[in-house]
Amino acid sequence: MRKLSSLLAQENFSSFSALATRFVPTELIEYVTSNTMNEVTRRVNPFLWTYQKKVQIVAIHRENHAVKTFVLRPNQHMNGALPGQHLKIEVPSAPEPLTRYYSISSIRKDGTFTITVKRCHEGAVSNWLHKHAKIGTILKCSDPEGQFIYQGQEKCLFLSAGVGITPCYSIVDAIQNQDQVDIEVYAIFKRTTDLVYEQQMKRWPAHIKRHITVANSLDQQYYEKPFDLTSGALLKAFPDIHERTVYLCGPPPFMDKVINLLEEIKFNFDQLNIERFNFVAPAPGDEQENSDVLAEIRFNKLGQTVQMTEADQGKTLLEIAENHGIHLEHGCRSGMCGTCRTQISEGCVSGNQIGKVIYPCTCYPASERITLE
Ligand code: FES
Repeated sequence: MRKLSSLLAQENFSSFSALATRFVPTELIEYVTSNTMNEVTRRVNPFLWTYQKKVQIVAIHRENHAVKTFVLRPNQHMNGALPGQHLKIEVPSAPEPLTRYYSISSIRKDGTFTITVKRCHEGAVSNWLHKHAKIGTILKCSDPEGQFIYQGQEKCLFLSAGVGITPCYSIVDAIQNQDQVDIEVYAIFKRTTDLVYEQQMKRWPAHIKRHITVANSLDQQYYEKPFDLTSGALLKAFPDIHERTVYLCGPPPFMDKVINLLEEIKFNFDQLNIERFNFVAPAPGDEQENSDVLAEIRFNKLGQTVQMTEADQGKTLLEIAENHGIHLEHGCRSGMCGTCRTQISEGCVSGNQIGKVIYPCTCYPASERITLE
């Protein structure tokens, strides 16, 4: 009976939180909660009576055997999200909570947004979300961040592999009704069982050219075959690629390969927007290579090289350098002061980048080999 009443109370407070965050101005929620903050209110409704950024799971959809989409309602402390951005999610774990970054896969009109999570064998956070998260679960999180966002270009090409489709899907879904924008979407999946958002992509308006491709030859009677990863095939598949802004997201080997091809065809890298795709250990049977070293980052002026491991995931280049005992000059740590400004001469990063100029305090590794000046 006690369990039932606490469940009912939880349900009521979930609905109350949903109504409050949807219809009550944020400033008013902040005013009321901060003026009534005490042990009781914090316990009764830890979603609103808190000073922390939190999300509450309001729905869960299974996309395929290993991927789930979580619909999240943000509390009053979170800044608004832009399609294509990512945020840090924290899940309970002993001795310390675990965090991981996830791309926002869609933003909804009711103020909620979604993340789409692939369960990976050794991905502690993805496993926790798949096993323990349920409707009503409240999680701590960061503000949405990242520069992988649509910036008003007239011609765009979204190139993704696997679950790297998520930030691309998020952007295209948000601009799908802007029929003056020439949008082409190219998504590669290994097998049909790995497909995500297939039906949703099929429902996009006709002016959006979309190619949903599956690499496994047995599945190709129903789906397009991905283009061979050669510069000739790339140009054949996208003859007007030089006129487009390319949004690229996928596992590091795929991104590295495509970036090499873009280099070969002398693509203007100012028109390239890339999103870091967190590496997680592959599930057994997956063909991906397993290694402790995820990327190598060379700091040329300092003559030092860092081997990035799983412990560095989700960290900026500045934080990774610090983790490995390298001091980089810095100030604000938020991309504002320009103190950490440097140039990239090899590889790719995502985040605060203008041409070859990058700001390590707000940039993340996006290729297996990176050289900074
Ligand atoms: S530390 Fe200020 S811009 Fe990087």
